[in-house]
Amino acid sequence: MMTENNSNTTINNTIENNSDKIINRNKIIDRNKIIDRNKIINRNKIIDRNINRILELVKNKNLKTPFFAIDKDILKANLEILKMVEERSGCHILLAQKCFSSYETYDFISQYVSGTTASGLYEAKLGKLMNKENHVYCPGYKEDDMKEIISLCDHIVFNSFSQWQRYKDDIFKNNISAGLRINPEFSTHKGNEMYDPCGKYSRMGITLKEFEKGYENGEFKGIEGLHFHTLCEQNSIDLKNTLDRVCEKFGKYFKEIKWINFGGGHHITKEDYDIDILTDCISKMKNEYGLEVYLEPGEAFAINAGYLVSSVVDIIKNDINIAILDTSAACHMPDVLEVPYVPEVFGASIVDDISEFVPNVNYADYADNVNYEEHANCADCADNADNANCADYSNYEEYANCADCADNTDNTDESVESDDIEAMNIYRFGGMTCLSGDVIGDYALKNPLKYGDLIVFKDMAIYSMVKTNTFNGMKLPDIYLFEDNDLLNLRTFGYEDFKSRL
Ligand SMILES: Cc1ncc(COP(=O)(O)O)c(C=O)c1O
Repeated sequence: MMTENNSNTTINNTIENNSDKIINRNKIIDRNKIIDRNKIINRNKIIDRNINRILELVKNKNLKTPFFAIDKDILKANLEILKMVEERSGCHILLAQKCFSSYETYDFISQYVSGTTASGLYEAKLGKLMNKENHVYCPGYKEDDMKEIISLCDHIVFNSFSQWQRYKDDIFKNNISAGLRINPEFSTHKGNEMYDPCGKYSRMGITLKEFEKGYENGEFKGIEGLHFHTLCEQNSIDLKNTLDRVCEKFGKYFKEIKWINFGGGHHITKEDYDIDILTDCISKMKNEYGLEVYLEPGEAFAINAGYLVSSVVDIIKNDINIAILDTSAACHMPDVLEVPYVPEVFGASIVDDISEFVPNVNYADYADNVNYEEHANCADCADNADNANCADYSNYEEYANCADCADNTDNTDESVESDDIEAMNIYRFGGMTCLSGDVIGDYALKNPLKYGDLIVFKDMAIYSMVKTNTFNGMKLPDIYLFEDNDLLNLRTFGYEDFKSRL
């Protein structure tokens, strides 16, 4: 078993992978049920093997953390599925670069799929590096950008009739295929407006009401395609239901177009994804309406195909054990805070509610009505003013002087063994920034942590490298490609990368 590396770091906590479970005080839950994005796939064995090899390389080559490692084996496994879908259905699959745009892999990706899609000028320029189909959609194009976009893209999708009218002459002159993004006003994942383009007052796409107005005004002329993007990490049944709605609402315009773009959010490369429903949807559009079909997933390309390797720089205590890492949720994995979600860590289990492991004072109890009632019989603290504060942790001290309720039974959750948190090696992982909320998650490890231990976050190729920032002057993680059992350095970052943006 590997326990040490040259830089005096031990990795004994990262050897055994049991991260498919979340530890909860009373139950161990299959974490699939909680965080869909981390659903176990049968590539776990390859992932574990590769992470072990990466840890060995960190030791042997004395590599500096933090760094991202893109796993080419997993990328390939994903690409093979996407290629199979293209071949089976005759659709065109485009890489949504907003999710993953490590262009050093574009030559490789180009062997499997039809091309790229972009969110604006810069991604469109990057997409050109793949040398295949290059599409773009942006909620609003600026004139200066549009000149260059026209020289780069095959398809340009507009978010409104007014944007289309503004640029249509140039589009016609340059023989580009133009499309309109529609809003089918059909949410399949209610509850998170941040990721729901069909939410109330959404600015994404044209509603049927506005579409009909534009059509009647003769503004549809010249449009060759329709685009909808409404999904986020979803299975194909949601696509089918959405497509039914799209056909119902916009089907009468299909005879005037050549193509339809189903957007992204299709979790095609997840183990439980129903590819048959997807290919049925594609066939329906091709056979019934004679349309070419485009899909532009991001995550499906690189799910599980990358890691963020970091080190422990300190361990502190505040009732719980807290490990400060040389990474940051805020800077290196902002989706952890934005989505939010808790990323999987190699060799660790996610702890669902760390407060359940804290002995003596179970603060959570003070916030609940049960305990409040106990204090109602207590001479020292039964008056309204005190009781109102029962939910407040600072009042705990007051009860310490209260004969009726200060004994351990009241203040302690008896089910918590005082050494649970130590015995189970439970730690909160936090980042190096000043942001109090820069917390990545709570984890149970196999062994106690110490300075220099390596921590590997899984599924870190998607919406990670594209979203990093240097808040607090944080160093950007270097980027490696894990290929042929070795780590190839793609990018090293330093002070100049921070300075040059200010
Ligand atoms: C228009 C559009 N297309 C494609 C995508 C890619 O989605 P995903 O990475 O979830 O597949 C997005 C994501 O936000 C998007 O907005």
